[in-house]
Amino acid sequence: MTPSAPTHLVTRAYDTAGVREMQDELFALYAEVYADQLSDPFYSVERFADRFAGHSNRSTFRLVTGRIGTELIGYAYGGPLSANTQWWRGLREEIPPDVLTEDGSRTFALNEIMVKASWRRRGIARSLHDMLLDGRPERRATLLVDPANTPARTAYLSWGWQILGPLQPFPDAPVYDALVVDLPLSHVVAG
Ligand SMILES: CC(C)(COP(=O)(O)OP(=O)(O)OC[C@H]1O[C@@H](n2cnc3c(N)ncnc32)[C@H](O)[C@@H]1OP(=O)(O)O)[C@@H](O)C(=O)NCCC(=O)NCCS
Repeated sequence: MTPSAPTHLVTRAYDTAGVREMQDELFALYAEVYADQLSDPFYSVERFADRFAGHSNRSTFRLVTGRIGTELIGYAYGGPLSANTQWWRGLREEIPPDVLTEDGSRTFALNEIMVKASWRRRGIARSLHDMLLDGRPERRATLLVDPANTPARTAYLSWGWQILGPLQPFPDAPVYDALVVDLPLSHVVAG
């Protein structure tokens, strides 16, 4: 069972207006968490910053941070898929079209979640994940996970996510697994 997050973890939600002044802090934690992969152009801080800008410039962007004291320990962010999203474009398997139809309010995409290595396996990612998805009006959520990323994959599957199929979002990106979960999350107690 995932333990409860430390009681001194302070989580806070932001929209697009709230993120600008802490962007450098977010990028610094990304660089620390992905230190082993930064030489791969897709994982470079510059490319992450580009993707972050694309996501965070949307008015529907949502971010949840976790801090202990003043230190940023982890964060998660995402936003709803638009009706003309390209999200499903890179699917590598035949999926019934009705599963992939978006209307702007069907699906929340969880774009990133990360926790500082020294604070892992204490339920912090789950707290960030639950806070980001709790109370969302969408009917489901989606994310992409590298099948070789055992910690993340194991966590998502244990939190109720299901594998839809392999998806490569960009030509130089890994082939991820696209996962989906129904909202509201069944394990989050309302209130
Ligand atoms: C994935 C990640 C966010 C999990 O953060 P976390 O705070 O450790 O996660 P939680 O403590 O909330 O959940 C832990 C669960 O993850 C899974 N897990 C974590 N590490 C694992 C490992 N080494 N092997 C197998 N399962 C693991 C388990 O299901 C675990 O539950 P348990 O502790 O009860 O066994 C963290 O490992 C991370 O930041 N990784 C690098 C960035 C990343 O890969 N992000 C996801 C991109 S899709």
